[in-house]
Amino acid sequence: MTPDTQVGADAPRGTDGSRRPLIVGNWKLWGTRAQAADYCERLSIDAHGPADVGVCPPFTALDVCVEKLGSSAVAVYAQNMHQESTGAFTGEVSAEMLTELGADGVVLGHSERRQYNCETDRALQEKLPAALEAGLQPILCVGESEEERERDETQRKLRSQVQEALEKVAGDRLADVVIAYEPIWAIGTGKVATPEIAQAAIAFIRALVGDRSRDAAQAVRILYGGSVKPDNALEILVQPDVDGALVGGASLDPDGFARIVAAAAP
Ligand code: PGA
Repeated sequence: MTPDTQVGADAPRGTDGSRRPLIVGNWKLWGTRAQAADYCERLSIDAHGPADVGVCPPFTALDVCVEKLGSSAVAVYAQNMHQESTGAFTGEVSAEMLTELGADGVVLGHSERRQYNCETDRALQEKLPAALEAGLQPILCVGESEEERERDETQRKLRSQVQEALEKVAGDRLADVVIAYEPIWAIGTGKVATPEIAQAAIAFIRALVGDRSRDAAQAVRILYGGSVKPDNALEILVQPDVDGALVGGASLDPDGFARIVAAAAP
């Protein structure tokens, strides 16, 4: 597949404009329960604003965020989950445990989990259907390393990650998955991808989804992540295939995060 065959490159945001932007703040290892409560009180998001919005606190602060944000338009995502619902998996939590707390979704396959916690595409194949079945919206993270980009292996990497992770997701559920393109070289480095790089990679990912279902390719939301900040969000978010952002460091300031959300007007 080449960029010339991309499904979404020239298309509007979904055939009927249905791909509402989504901006999600990934707190990573930040947020005691007290910090989470304070953050939620300071976060000001207009429920009728330009984008869907979510935050990803650590497990221990999920219920605080659900309680504080429950009446707002802000969704609450966990940062990981195990694929099994129960068993001898010390330290893990299941999809049902997250829905019981009131979580709306879960980030899966973040590159930091792939790097430091042995997250595999094989496990993700089980995690995605488990999350969907439990009623959680999964955000699947994919992306190439700096070496892979330099060796011109970006498409090969994205193809294997996307195809493997989505393999057991039924065709009629593909559009319920959110995909985040997060080049590893851009995460936490301040080295944001150019709008052209983000657009090309995300259009390529959309084409990969299109190999399974053209309808799903038009409907699936694909985000960019990696050093998104209030002052660079707009140029990335206006790209036709970029449906939002997964924001790490810059999401820890609720005012800055709200400015990134404001940049997401469709
Ligand atoms: P960053 O992280 O915005 O701090 O680069 C993004 C992410 O890891 O999701």
